[in-house]
Amino acid sequence: MKTVFFSLFTVFCFTGFLVLSAPYTYATTDIVIKTTISEGELFDDAIQNNIIPIPKNTPLIVLLEAGDWTKVQYKEITGFIKSEHLKFISPQQMPGKTDPAKVTNQKKIALTFDDGPHPKVTMQILKTLEKYDAKATFFVVGKEVKKHPKIVKAAYEAGHEIGNHTFNHSRLTTLSSKQMKHQIQSTDAIIKATIGQNATLFRPPYGAYNKTVINQLNVPLTMWSIDTLDWKHRDPKKTVQAINKQAKNGSIILMHDIHQTTADALENILITLQKQGYEFVTVSELTQ
Ligand code: NI
Repeated sequence: MKTVFFSLFTVFCFTGFLVLSAPYTYATTDIVIKTTISEGELFDDAIQNNIIPIPKNTPLIVLLEAGDWTKVQYKEITGFIKSEHLKFISPQQMPGKTDPAKVTNQKKIALTFDDGPHPKVTMQILKTLEKYDAKATFFVVGKEVKKHPKIVKAAYEAGHEIGNHTFNHSRLTTLSSKQMKHQIQSTDAIIKATIGQNATLFRPPYGAYNKTVINQLNVPLTMWSIDTLDWKHRDPKKTVQAINKQAKNGSIILMHDIHQTTADALENILITLQKQGYEFVTVSELTQ
């Protein structure tokens, strides 16, 4: 038992905690979910007692594919199941209103920028995107939109997509459902007032969501498939490297338009990937 959990843990570390694939729906062909861990928790001995039987053909939501083991959601529980016990149905919408990520097979990539708008950084990013005729998606924070509405309007009018990223970047899973609602709806309202259109996507800060969050959304919940960790290393070279190493058809790339180093990395990213034939589109276009 110990070995199993150790190797699980290793797989998970290598795969990366934050790189959650957009959810797909699978059904079980077999019967047992091995463990239950909540995101961010480590494996410990207590987990060995947590083995939950899953009836055959139960639909599950896959959060992360990690080789022999796959991280899934079953009811309220997230845990790992042996990949061989899963039967792929088709990429489809998560119960509720979540990102279907019918990921394209074409050479298209969605660049996403979170936490803005920022008066200097976002403007530089918009300029660079325009230079290379690239479209992107901005997950904006309501209180920043209030401060810099013109930037969001300019982004929208240039053909970029605007998504909701809460009013003040709250970790929604720690809030009451009333507070959650306020975070989402006040941001929706300010986006609508700013660009004349509703936000078309939602991304939860820290990638933290649960069923209550999903139930409050009228638009797809959008995660990412490549985390550049730009906020952490603040190094344009590392941002470029992270993307070059992982980019593939249908990638959704996470960056933040509040760091100068991210804006400085962008030109290099666009040049390199365009050379490889990639086109840069909004998330909605990627998942059409
Ligand atoms: Ni954020």
